[in-house]
Amino acid sequence: MIPPGFIQDLLARVDIVDIVGRHVDLKKAGINHKGLCPFHGEKTPSFTVSPSRQTYHCFGCGQHGNAVGFLMEHLGIGFIDAVKDLAQQAGMQVPEDDRSPQQREQEKAQKQRQATLTEILAKAGQHYRQQLKGNPRAIEYLKGRGLTGQIALQFGLGYAPDGWRSLASAFPSYDDPLLVETGLVILQDDPGKSEAEQRRYDRFRDRVMFPIRNVLGEVIGFGGRVLDKGEPKYLNSPETPVFHKGKELYGLYEARPAMRRRGYALVVEGYMDVVALAQHGFGNAVATLGTACTADHVQKLFRFTESVVFSFDGDAAGRRAAGRALEAALPHANETRTIKFLFLPTEHDPDSYVRELGADAFERCIEGAVPLSRQLMETAADGCDLGTPEGRAKMLSVAKPLWAALPDGLLKRQLLGELARRAQLPDAELQALWANALPPA
Ligand code: UTP
Ligand code: MN
Repeated sequence: MIPPGFIQDLLARVDIVDIVGRHVDLKKAGINHKGLCPFHGEKTPSFTVSPSRQTYHCFGCGQHGNAVGFLMEHLGIGFIDAVKDLAQQAGMQVPEDDRSPQQREQEKAQKQRQATLTEILAKAGQHYRQQLKGNPRAIEYLKGRGLTGQIALQFGLGYAPDGWRSLASAFPSYDDPLLVETGLVILQDDPGKSEAEQRRYDRFRDRVMFPIRNVLGEVIGFGGRVLDKGEPKYLNSPETPVFHKGKELYGLYEARPAMRRRGYALVVEGYMDVVALAQHGFGNAVATLGTACTADHVQKLFRFTESVVFSFDGDAAGRRAAGRALEAALPHANETRTIKFLFLPTEHDPDSYVRELGADAFERCIEGAVPLSRQLMETAADGCDLGTPEGRAKMLSVAKPLWAALPDGLLKRQLLGELARRAQLPDAELQALWANALPPA
């Protein structure tokens, strides 16, 4: 528990105009400040910050609150984290803070290091954007994929030139070990040589660059695509202190206003799918970073929306990915959330689908997406003949760990009834059988 007196002191110490101003471009308008609302996409500002009341209010979507509320909503963090964040900015110490001074120093140093890395990555992103302007081949490539300059700008797309040390022109010292730490520069491992003698070169060469941002809008890594043929098709930043593939989602920073407007998030498989969907009016799409969808990803999404639609390519790989997404989503499914699964025709991914068949057709696919409960049933019954005791038993054995992964509540109870009915067992009997069921390992 943080003492209420502390919160009051804290709110008195900070200025909401500064706090909001770090995330939203604000202009003075009379006694208030105005800007574009970060909570619902809009073109004319209806988002107002009042220095006298120390509150914000959006006349478009009705969101309002104080500085703590703003950070919670905007960053998708909890009350305690928002208070800690604010306290740090105000140079105050949260009273219940039970970390040792040593721990606090360490955390501070770590934060500073991360800030240095994201600054470097942002600078590299700027360099890549600049390079794109001067490279007709890369521009033609993006145009050929149906993207406008405006969308390229919105996602900060760039181009890494075809040279070993293109980044040398963007940084004062190419030998800076921090460039290696960001993953932008590769240090050739040669144990016989001192670090100074080892060869360094750009990781990303002759690729279209997709900057990956965290929810603060900081660049934390890149995905780079070859323009023609070549392996690998996409090259990604390695794991670094600021880049964790199992936690971050491509496009989340850009997608949040549209997620609020549309009321749901679309989860797709590729960078290009996210950008192409935004180009066609589905700005609410995000993608995993070339990895399977994890429970961490799903949890993160549910900070910003109550409804998620997973979209999968219609091929075998898409079906496998759906299986993993189902497992990742189950621990977060409950009666207040909506989770759906959408399968595109075999030959399509969202990018090709929306470009070939249009936004309306894609909208209808979304309307036809399968709810989690049905996806669970179908996964369990896959390859089982429910007309036979063997088939029904097998279905139950597959369903058991999936069902067990659901949090206790109404949805879990409903699914038990549904599964019992399909298995031709009385509810109570299945409930007794599954009293100690465990989720997938
Ligand atoms: P896909 O191979 O399905 O490609 O990769 P795509 O998204 O349709 O790309 P385009 O349309 O050919 O440009 C899906 C995602 O898997 C990861 C990337 O995150 C990519 O967006 N991936 C793919 C890699 O990380 N490395 C690869 O070599 C290929
Ligand atoms: Mn594709």
